[in-house]
Amino acid sequence: MGGENGAEEPMDVEIMPSTSGYNIKNKEKEGKSGHLPWIEKHRPQVFSEIVGNEDTVSRLSVFAQHGNCPNIIIAGPPGVGKTTTILCLARILLGPTFKEAVLELNASNERGIDVVRNKIKMFAQKKVNLPKGKHKIIILDEADSMTEGAQQALRRTMEIYSNTTRFALACNTSEKIIEPIQSRCAMLRYGKLSDAQILAKIIEVCTKENVSYTDDGLEAIVFTAQGDMRQALNNLQSTSNGFGHVNSENVFKVCDEPHPLLVKEMLEFCTQANISKSYGVMEHLWKMGYSAEDLIRNIFRVCKNLPIDETLKLDFIKEIGITHLGIVDGIDSLLQINSLLARLCKRAMQS
Ligand SMILES: Nc1ncnc2c1ncn2[C@@H]1O[C@H](COP(=O)(O)OP(=O)(O)OP(=O)(O)O)[C@@H](O)[C@H]1O
Ligand SMILES: [Mg+2]
Repeated sequence: MGGENGAEEPMDVEIMPSTSGYNIKNKEKEGKSGHLPWIEKHRPQVFSEIVGNEDTVSRLSVFAQHGNCPNIIIAGPPGVGKTTTILCLARILLGPTFKEAVLELNASNERGIDVVRNKIKMFAQKKVNLPKGKHKIIILDEADSMTEGAQQALRRTMEIYSNTTRFALACNTSEKIIEPIQSRCAMLRYGKLSDAQILAKIIEVCTKENVSYTDDGLEAIVFTAQGDMRQALNNLQSTSNGFGHVNSENVFKVCDEPHPLLVKEMLEFCTQANISKSYGVMEHLWKMGYSAEDLIRNIFRVCKNLPIDETLKLDFIKEIGITHLGIVDGIDSLLQINSLLARLCKRAMQS
């Protein structure tokens, strides 16, 4: 049945350009252009550089040391290092044979049932000379975008070639991976990164890239990133390229988010039950063109950290949630948000 033992001649299989190959090529170019996006330039190459999710990463590095890695699925929100982790794992496991022994397919490739039947199966059958105990790796990035048919077609392939090939899947929502595939894989979950972890990484990048920054600028980057490292690095680079200096004002201009200090001021007026002043701030924000959805999200994030009495804060969050519900349903007028301010003022008066 195919595999390393069956086929004598290596089959001719098209190997997709891998992200890591992209890295190497671009590192050479870097000297000339210097315009590589920082997310690629500072993409971790080894496990020790990956920030956060320590438990999962350390489990994987044990797999990598012993060489016998199971099929894995890494699930988690965007920009927390799933693709990076899988590439690091493949690099450690396969070293110099990486190019030959890794097939990387992501959502930009066609991955219908035909691709599983042809490309994936052919790669699984391909003969590659690997050290004993090592396996070829098929990386299916963004696997949640694979059709159910394609996933079904993968079931048996995964089993038949299990002596020569391992699968590594990354996805945002594990529910979109069919149960039989989940049962063939070790499921690893990644969570969002903490503010401290993002801050530490962006300080490191700022130092390497000689970025001029203020502390409130970095705080703003962390605030806008919401646990997503890719977003943090992209926002940092955009602000630095666009303004030459990273302070909170520039960050919020680049990210096009309402300035949290303004929102904070507005909420503080609510706690003083001062509706007219709080309405004034809201009108100003509205005129700046922010959508109701942007505003309500921002109001919630600021409210979470507002230094007010806990019970009042809980009431505030409840009211914000109710307004959010309305906005998602399509009732997104300025009047709706003002009614939120009115309710917040009322709550503050009662407490
Ligand atoms: N844990 C991390 N440690 C250090 N850098 C990170 C981490 N997570 C993400 N990054 C940075 O963000 C970039 C994108 O990360 P990656 O491609 O691994 O995200 P992902 O989890 O696969 O996201 P998606 O679900 O959108 O595919 C990396 O190139 C790296 O620069
Ligand atoms: Mg990814």
